[in-house]
Amino acid sequence: MYDFKPTPDAPKNAIYRDLLSAAEGLTAGERDGVANMANVAALLWEFLPDLNWAGFYRVVDGELVLGPFAGRPACIRIPFGRGVCGVAAKDAATQVVADVHAFSGHIACDPASRSELVVPVQREGVVIAVIDLDSPSPARFDDEDAKSIEALAALLSKRI
Ligand code: SME
Repeated sequence: MYDFKPTPDAPKNAIYRDLLSAAEGLTAGERDGVANMANVAALLWEFLPDLNWAGFYRVVDGELVLGPFAGRPACIRIPFGRGVCGVAAKDAATQVVADVHAFSGHIACDPASRSELVVPVQREGVVIAVIDLDSPSPARFDDEDAKSIEALAALLSKRI
């Protein structure tokens, strides 16, 4: 049985330390990328407060296709350059969006979403997926969230 549990009211750096440690432990011995994305989506959902969506879009034939996630059903295909996810994939750059309503081209899968963090996962310089986090609170994500999810993306580079 896996028993990775966030400590209630832990500071953000401790939450991310434990999340990364759990992700490392869960994915280390498994070569199936879908299984690893599924478990990491579950960890993100369980460890990070104030989210309404957490998961992956994978690059398939030049577009983003919905991968394992936690939250409400979401849009399935996103072209490169469209929405927050598509921009992150096209530019290979993390997107921290404090107010999704102010982001031109934002794709509203869930009208409850107010802020968003999208981090590309790269393997040998090529974007292979993005990690997408949505929150019902404005400006939910800061630089520490971005850096921590970038560390998670680096960990997953050869495991998804
Ligand atoms: N809002 C995203 C689409 C994906 S959903 O948030 C799960 C975007 O603009 O790319």
